Amino acid sequence: MKVANNLFIVTGGAGGIGKAVSSILTSKGALVALFDVLDSSKGSEVAKSIGDKAVYVQVDITESNSVKKGIETAQQHFAKELESSGGKLSGCVHCAGIAIKQEWTNNMVDSIPNFEKMLKVNTVGTFVINAHVADAINAQYPKADGERFFTTDEERGIIVNFASVAGHDLYARCLSYGPTKAAVLGMTRSFADFLGPSGIRVCSVSPSIVISGLTAGFSGYFQDDLTAHAAFPRSPVPAEKIVDTVLHLIENQWLNGEDIRVDGGWRLVTNRAKDKADPRELAPGLE
Ligand SMILES: NC(=O)c1ccc[n+]([C@@H]2O[C@H](COP(=O)([O-])OP(=O)(O)OC[C@H]3O[C@@H](n4cnc5c(N)ncnc54)[C@H](O)[C@@H]3O)[C@@H](O)[C@H]2O)c1
Repeated sequence: MKVANNLFIVTGGAGGIGKAVSSILTSKGALVALFDVLDSSKGSEVAKSIGDKAVYVQVDITESNSVKKGIETAQQHFAKELESSGGKLSGCVHCAGIAIKQEWTNNMVDSIPNFEKMLKVNTVGTFVINAHVADAINAQYPKADGERFFTTDEERGIIVNFASVAGHDLYARCLSYGPTKAAVLGMTRSFADFLGPSGIRVCSVSPSIVISGLTAGFSGYFQDDLTAHAAFPRSPVPAEKIVDTVLHLIENQWLNGEDIRVDGGWRLVTNRAKDKADPRELAPGLE
């Protein structure tokens, strides 16, 4: 998908990965709407630091009406630029997500509230954002008379979701975050299949560890684990390498329904060696 002059939505745009993605997209000539739950003044400061091709819109991605309104606001904000360049809403990089930390207990039921919260943001939110962005992209094109569905042979858009290595390697340390991200891998494939006829691709990225607000406080533990279990490089991923991958997914039309792990060959394993403490003692309690 062409980046220059087109409008992209970046959810979680005020967060670590979202901000880095927004910056690179605007540097390549895109217009970017940052969606985040942060209050408007804080979010606007982030957008301002990126430049006048970025705008902040306060949106809760779990709320269908909030997302619909947010997309309309973004399109209205850039209406003049889009009209003069012939650009369109062409995609979304969906970075909004949460990971909740809680001390492990011996009761599995203690994890239910956090599972529900992460399911709402990471899983339901992904469905909501993918659905609204796809509909808004399609709505820009006329449907042929008598046709029931949007059908085209031209490329109209791309959605890049954020899953995680924890969505692939579902082990004890990520009891509920992992499953909520496995669902993101599933939706990436099902939306890609469903949206293919309307020329919209859907892919995802699965990073290992990127230093950001989400991983603050876990980095020591994960650094040790990367050193022990990654192939190479055995270190967190710099945000610019995630951004490179996102750009590649946007620009290479033949990547569809695909997830790219950016993890230095790290595979999450639970160490159950007899001389080691209970794995729940060792893991950082990332629900
Ligand atoms: N950082 C990592 O190591 C890592 C690893 C694997 C996957 N991921 C995934 O990558 C994505 C980006 O992570 P990050 O490191 O930039 O995290 P981050 O915490 O820096 O940013 C996430 C952003 O999402 C926003 N957000 C949370 N709930 C929201 C909601 N309901 N509506 C709108 N915005 C909301 C937050 O306010 C925050 O700004 C997430 O989906 C995360 O699960 C991150």
